[in-house]
Order: sequence, then structure tokens, then C-alpha cells
Amino acid sequence: MGNNPAEMLMKEHSTIEQVESVIHSMDGLWEKDHEKYRAMVSKLLYFFREYSDVFHHRKEEEVLFPELINHPDFLLNEIIDELEEHHEMFREYTKEIEDLIESDELIKAHVLLKRYVNDLLDHIAVENDELFSIAENLFTDSQLENMYFRFKDIDLELGEDLKTELEQIPQDLRGELAVNGF
Ligand SMILES: [Fe+2]
Ligand SMILES: [Fe+2]
Repeated sequence: MGNNPAEMLMKEHSTIEQVESVIHSMDGLWEKDHEKYRAMVSKLLYFFREYSDVFHHRKEEEVLFPELINHPDFLLNEIIDELEEHHEMFREYTKEIEDLIESDELIKAHVLLKRYVNDLLDHIAVENDELFSIAENLFTDSQLENMYFRFKDIDLELGEDLKTELEQIPQDLRGELAVNGF
């Protein structure tokens, strides 16, 4: 089908997944260029907050999860509870990492950043491999299309140009690392 909401979320997932290799390549950057490491983490936190949380999690929390819970044949409410708890935990992670950057505890910040991205990728795998196929089987084509347009409305409301800009961040960061030979 053309206007597929699961595909839209999966596309956002693959944008988010791009930061994993960036974060791993930043290992030890603080020794070479302290300020640059801090600036890159700030940019990553901005990406997580504005893209992963605002553009992406909002679609799941406001549209997909409630639609699943309200579907009479959906019997896995505990999966949704778990995924919502993860979103909450991700918000906590960004706060903790920000505090560690502010107090200049960069090694600790990096350990937490790696744990965060690891948890985020596990979360994405559950959605891609389990939740989205359940949704595609439960909903009719017109229900799926309706969901797709509700997602689109969220993007329009938040700003599609902003979304495109945010989607550039993983690549920009990779370019910044290349300058330092990382
Ligand atoms: Fe999620
Ligand atoms: Fe997701």
C-alpha cells in the first residue's frame, strides 16, 4: 500500500539508528578535543529530544499506541506499557547525560550515551519486528491510511523543513568526526 504508517515509522527508525556508529566513533574524542566532544553530545541530545522524542515518539504515543489499545482484537497491552516506559526512560537518559556534560564528567557521559543508544536500538527492534506487523495485520487498509495521514499532520504541525534539518544531524556529525580523523 502507498500511504503506509509502519513504513513511515520504520524510516524514522533508520534515521535514529544512524547515530549508533557516530556515538561509537566518538570514543576517546574528549582526549583529543574536549570542547568538540561536548558540542557533539549537545547536538546528539538535541537530535534525540527533537527528532526521536518529538517527531517520532509522539506519533506512537498519540496515534499508534492508543489505536492498538482500542482495537478489540489487540491483547498485548503490556507490550504498549513497556514501550511507553522505555520512552520515559529515554527522556531520563537525555537529562542525565546533559547533567554529566555540564559537570564535565565526559567518560561517564559516554558510558551512559552508549547504554542509551543500545536500549534505543533494542526498543526499535521490538517495534519493527513485532508491533508493526501486528498493527498491519489488525487494521484495515483504510484504517492504516488514516493513521498515515494523522502522522503526516503531526509532521506538518511541527514543520517538515525542521524534520528534514533534523534528519541531517547524524550525517553532519559523521562529517565533523572525519575532520578529526575519527
Ligand atoms: Fe517507541
Ligand atoms: Fe519507534
